[in-house]
Amino acid sequence: MSHNTLGRLFRVTTWGESHGIAIGCVVDGCPPGVPLQEGDIQAFLDRRRPGRSRFTSQRREPDVVRILSGVFVDDGGRQVTTGTPICLLIDNVDQKEKDYAAIKDKFRPGHADYTYWAKYGVRDYRGGGRASARETAMRVAAGAVARKLMPNVSIRGALVQIGRHRIDRGRWSWGEVDNNPFFAPDPGVVKTWTDYLDAVRKAGSSVGAVIEVVAEGVPPGWGAPIYGKLDQELAAAMMSINAVKGVEIGAGMAAAELHGEANADEIRIGNDGKPVFLSNAAGGILGGISTGQPVVVRFAVKPTSSILTPRRTIDRFGNETEITTKGRHDPCVGIRAVPVGEAMMAIVLADHYLRHRAQIG
Ligand SMILES: Cc1cc2nc3c(=O)[nH]c(=O)nc-3n(C[C@H](O)[C@H](O)[C@H](O)COP(=O)(O)O)c2cc1C
Repeated sequence: MSHNTLGRLFRVTTWGESHGIAIGCVVDGCPPGVPLQEGDIQAFLDRRRPGRSRFTSQRREPDVVRILSGVFVDDGGRQVTTGTPICLLIDNVDQKEKDYAAIKDKFRPGHADYTYWAKYGVRDYRGGGRASARETAMRVAAGAVARKLMPNVSIRGALVQIGRHRIDRGRWSWGEVDNNPFFAPDPGVVKTWTDYLDAVRKAGSSVGAVIEVVAEGVPPGWGAPIYGKLDQELAAAMMSINAVKGVEIGAGMAAAELHGEANADEIRIGNDGKPVFLSNAAGGILGGISTGQPVVVRFAVKPTSSILTPRRTIDRFGNETEITTKGRHDPCVGIRAVPVGEAMMAIVLADHYLRHRAQIG
């Protein structure tokens, strides 16, 4: 009933709360013999870590991961997975409970405080408890394991919109993504986003964003119709990320405005005798099965709900009141959602890779 596990063959269970002692996950179903070191995982965690710029939460979490189980040094001296459950752990070191004392009985509008209270009747008010996006660190850790077991698949994400300010897709350069604090693939947008987010932050407000995640190297054939479609499970995985309110595959919502000629990706035979698609409105998926084209997913993240501006709400005793969130928050949580989106893509694809292998060989 608790639904803390994702996947069928590559299965990830996360545990822990924002202000508990630690957070962690268990990755079960990873095949044996996959080289895996802490450093492979740490590199991705470092990209999600808070406090990397003034546009993300100033919580100081080093997010150092430890592999507690599921690996062994083989005869060649390499640390590899053994096929047993891989337990990953990160200590929480920067918990400031007093930041949350003032809101302990109040429900933050837009956050999960009210619904957790309505459902469970127990409230871990410290930083959102289990509803906190601290949990997404473990998704990123599990995603790093998922990346290692898929042959020749590259997964990259970028921020393509903050508020109303979109990137110029004509200037898209993957090489730029790690050269600015926004994961922007268009260097031309960085100044606009910087000025805009500074103003949003100073006003004590927040703003939403759109993230695009692209997987290249996925061969034709991954995905399991009818109720395990690749697009279906990617949408569910992205929607499970905190604050995500919309998911698109390929042309997505814009497909509704297209005619059939523009939307249906025509096919020719390439020089190597293999099919070549002339466009990718399908986002690399037809009938729930990968086409061999890049798998393209976009998702919209809502504005951070805990903001400095006073908001009307109620408390758990039934009184109307006001709330102002102090503490340390991102003015745009969409920025740190980029590595999380990549991780969810990796976890879903790894699961489908194993499922495809299990059925087709
Ligand atoms: C990377 C990341 C960081 C987040 N940080 C905050 C935060 O500092 N304050 C906040 O109110 N919400 C934050 N959120 C969003 C909340 O976790 C989320 O809105 C809450 O759990 C309610 O779930 P829902 O928005 O999916 O319905 C963050 C989300 C992500 C992806």
